Amino acid sequence: MKPRLVLACLTTSAVVARARVEFDAFIHPGPGDMTVAELIRAAASRQAQAILFTNTLSLDAAAIAALPTSVRVGATISVGFDHIDVEAACGRRIAMTNTPGVLDECTADHAMMLLLAAARRGAEYDRVMRQGWRYRIGQGELLGVRVTGKRIGILGMGRIGRAMARRARGFDMQVLYHGRRRLPPEHELGAAYYADFHQMLPHCDFLSIHAPGGAGTDKMIDGRALSLLPDGAVLVNVARGSLIDEDALFAALTSGKLFAAGLDVFRREPDYDLRFADLDNVVLSPHIASASRETRDAMGFRALDNIAAVLADRPAIDPLWKD
Ligand code: DGY
Repeated sequence: MKPRLVLACLTTSAVVARARVEFDAFIHPGPGDMTVAELIRAAASRQAQAILFTNTLSLDAAAIAALPTSVRVGATISVGFDHIDVEAACGRRIAMTNTPGVLDECTADHAMMLLLAAARRGAEYDRVMRQGWRYRIGQGELLGVRVTGKRIGILGMGRIGRAMARRARGFDMQVLYHGRRRLPPEHELGAAYYADFHQMLPHCDFLSIHAPGGAGTDKMIDGRALSLLPDGAVLVNVARGSLIDEDALFAALTSGKLFAAGLDVFRREPDYDLRFADLDNVVLSPHIASASRETRDAMGFRALDNIAAVLADRPAIDPLWKD
């Protein structure tokens, strides 16, 4: 008998196909991902041993308490896990796993795309063309800011932050970073470490956010942090919207303190703060930084590998809690 799995989120056809082969799988048909109530109902009625979901589902303590006792493992198809109460899962002895490592390059590609588009006004130029162009653009009009050779501060120098640093070096940028710990030289590769985040900010022409969400980083980018950046800085966020005080960001973008921002993530998703949609100096994407075909397959496969390991009584590959 194949183990019983509830696939609570919409994912790629390759991941669905593999889930069907290896598991007795209930595949949520959509539209949209399952709600917590739907997941609990589906897991209970099928006595599922495994649940597969992504960050659209908030598994807080109450949701975890409501899961049937049959559930032994929950796998999120995401590297971030601020949507899961890991302590509650540990208390219920439900293994929880994420998908680190497989999405670093595509997420950093997307961050660099946002950085370049924000600095060089990519979305605005595209709009000019779609509106027909047909007028002279003066040498002094619609100017962006230079990227090459500038200083970039990276908040959170984990795998994705380091992938962003590699891309920035390709643009001859000077890399500064802040994280909880200084990296060993083989990972630092000459980047300047700032133990104090606020001390780094006045040196950042660009600030790219790659730190995890959650209570420890909530509103780390607040009015004070933004005021410490050089005038005309550019901010990029592909991590979590919770890191930013969005009122302060909106004020910095409309006052001219920031030249521009590239935002993939928001405090509320999908119903994000529509004030940002009215700003020409913001480039927006819908929490989709890892979304290449290859990476989304790899993330789903990694989640299935984690589930298979736990249900075969092997250690999870990417456990969120350990004894
Ligand atoms: C991640 O992997 O954490 C992405 O943000 C998608 O949720």
